Amino acid sequence: MIDIHSHILPAVDDGSKDLAMSLDMARMYVENGFTTVIATPHYIEGSISTKKDKNKKVLDMFKEELKRENIELEILLGNEAYVSMDLIGDLEEGRVASLYDSRYVLLELPMQDMPLYVESLIYELQLKGYTPIIAHPERNSTIVEDPNILYNLIEKGALAQLNLPSLEGRYGEKIKETAEILLSHNMIHFLGTDAHTNRGRSPKVSEGLNILKSLISEEKYEDLTINNPTKLINNQSINIEEPIEYKKRKTKWPVRAWNKISSLLY
Ligand SMILES: [Fe+2]
Repeated sequence: MIDIHSHILPAVDDGSKDLAMSLDMARMYVENGFTTVIATPHYIEGSISTKKDKNKKVLDMFKEELKRENIELEILLGNEAYVSMDLIGDLEEGRVASLYDSRYVLLELPMQDMPLYVESLIYELQLKGYTPIIAHPERNSTIVEDPNILYNLIEKGALAQLNLPSLEGRYGEKIKETAEILLSHNMIHFLGTDAHTNRGRSPKVSEGLNILKSLISEEKYEDLTINNPTKLINNQSINIEEPIEYKKRKTKWPVRAWNKISSLLY
């Protein structure tokens, strides 16, 4: 299995604090069936961004340590790039990395907002040959409110990556519910652990994988866990199923009637 979203690199962002924690996380990845992890340190313009060459140095050191510890886990480099108007310039000038230098760029949205420029950013990225992947859309409050906001971005050419812990309810019921809606409406193309530590937000996602297995077909499970991320690493395009527009369940008529009556009374 391949994780395309991880903060395993030691002391480069708000993820792993030090080498010991990163090695622990690496062991957990292996125990949970992963062979490859794309390390995606945050890139937030003017904020906690670590330079690409520093990330590369830390990665090389970490790989040596993994070898020394006999941990068989391949680590590749990327970034989780916070959306900004300057992102294309940052990509072109090498300040931010796509995933393993492929055409795929992992985009982080604000949690509580959907900036107006996101649609044009998605468009511009594609004009430059990139394929944007929205990181954990199920955690964005506007998408929780209306999953069709993601539907629209996918129609415009974006792909989406689900956090496995969302399925376990680790971020709450609403986010779990949204994760299930997005999966059943063909709006998810990749998975990630978004692991930050060896406790709590860790690579221990076996429960999430079991839930995933119970929700989708075996074929789709293979696509999400192996086939799609393998194509990403090889810089190949992936075939996606048509996303399905979400139709909000209608409130039953007695509830509707009661709501109407109480609105007249109060
Ligand atoms: Fe992340």
